[in-house]
Amino acid sequence: MAYFIWGDDLLIDNGQLDQDHRVLIEQINKLHSATKVGGGQEIVGKTLENLIRNTLEHIRREEQFMTQINYPGQKEHEADHVRFVNSLRDLQRKYGLGSITVAAQLSTLLRDWLSLHIQRYDKDIFHFMEEQKCTKRTKRTR
Ligand SMILES: [Fe+2]
Ligand SMILES: [Fe+2]
Repeated sequence: MAYFIWGDDLLIDNGQLDQDHRVLIEQINKLHSATKVGGGQEIVGKTLENLIRNTLEHIRREEQFMTQINYPGQKEHEADHVRFVNSLRDLQRKYGLGSITVAAQLSTLLRDWLSLHIQRYDKDIFHFMEEQKCTKRTKRTR
């Protein structure tokens, strides 16, 4: 069974953001398997590197999207991204010092953060967009 399973409850925009989340989940699973089977430092290191790069790219994209749609909860949302990036960098640094167990901690951190963050913060973007659609629809029928 996969370590982190994608579900429709994680849907946000039916587009790029969901696509990013799916890729991140896939990579978290990959990292988890690599550490579980005692994968070599090389494969773990490479997976970790891709995962961190994609996470940072995704965060940037999501923040640009929030700006585009004038999302009111952007500040609070970005603060959670900052908290996460800080702990990610901290673990990445520790991993760089040679500890393979850090990679296992990272897959847990990424999975827990991503699933909670999507449900708590990213999902609110979806709710906001739905509200906007409703407002537009209401305005049109008036
Ligand atoms: Fe987010
Ligand atoms: Fe996200």
